[in-house]
Amino acid sequence: MIPIPSSKQCLLCELLHNTALNETVCRLEFRWAGSIPRAGQFFMIRPERTSVFLGRPISAAGWNSGASSPSVHFLIAKRGRGTEELTRINPGERAELIGPLGNAWGDLLPNEGPIALVGGGAGVAPMTAFAGELGDRAYDFYGGFKSASFGLESVHPLSLIIAGEDGSAGRRGRISDFLEPAKYRAVYACGPEPMLKAVAGSCNKAGVPCFVSLERRMACGVGACLGCTIKTVWGSRRCCADGPIFNAAEVIFDE
Ligand SMILES: Cc1cc2nc3c(=O)[nH]c(=O)nc-3n(C[C@H](O)[C@H](O)[C@H](O)COP(=O)(O)OP(=O)(O)OC[C@H]3O[C@@H](n4cnc5c(N)ncnc54)[C@H](O)[C@@H]3O)c2cc1C
Ligand code: FES
Repeated sequence: MIPIPSSKQCLLCELLHNTALNETVCRLEFRWAGSIPRAGQFFMIRPERTSVFLGRPISAAGWNSGASSPSVHFLIAKRGRGTEELTRINPGERAELIGPLGNAWGDLLPNEGPIALVGGGAGVAPMTAFAGELGDRAYDFYGGFKSASFGLESVHPLSLIIAGEDGSAGRRGRISDFLEPAKYRAVYACGPEPMLKAVAGSCNKAGVPCFVSLERRMACGVGACLGCTIKTVWGSRRCCADGPIFNAAEVIFDE
């Protein structure tokens, strides 16, 4: 049994709502009486009724810390068995949530200047959470999707740039092709690794700091098993405990 650091919590939480956003993505809202997450942090989630042994890492997309019924919500995209089972939990059923885990976007924010938030697919989840933390601070939001857009109801950017690979959401193409990094003091991104690599490359060319939230398969989620390492210019780092957000200039992306 892997010990959970005392700052994190492991709670059996009731699912309040399961809303399908399209054929492969749903929004799950759980009752959550633990610490309020910060944008960028994630939870290891494992349904009580499941066939998988390990929880799956999922970023907090938002939360309601109101005293009467605190909750946290997530966007889940079906990928394999674990995420498929998560999309099938019914309201009233419970799941084990361990978290909040990992680092937060808010610690990487310049004091002033324009910033861009870039989300691809379910990677929009931690970016919408970040947008929610920004208050009056202006930002541009870039959302990239395979098909129709989802999950953007709560973002209120200066400019909203949406791109879809099949042309059914905003501009046709990859969102990284529409980003103009030179307009920003810093760029923050979460999504599929090829998208992150493209965003990091264009920021690097423009000399603009870029921070990316990386995905690795995770077993413990708390830094104990070394199962989630990424390569950086400083050597190996644990995605769960040293990240998941890293300075893109320090990440060595796979070829
Ligand atoms: C910090 C973090 C936050 C995440 N936040 C979200 C989120 O908000 N919403 C969401 O839908 N998903 C999120 N993910 C991804 C999600 O955890 C994986 O899709 C999930 O673990 C896959 O489990 P599975 O059982 O469905 O698929 P599996 O059967 O385990 O795998 C299906 C396929 O996906 C590949 N794969 C599985 N996990 C990963 C991974 N982490 N990175 C790269 N390839 C992988 C496998 O190699 C396999 O080809 C996040 C991942 C991390 C690390
Ligand atoms: S998942 Fe165990 S160290 Fe990251």
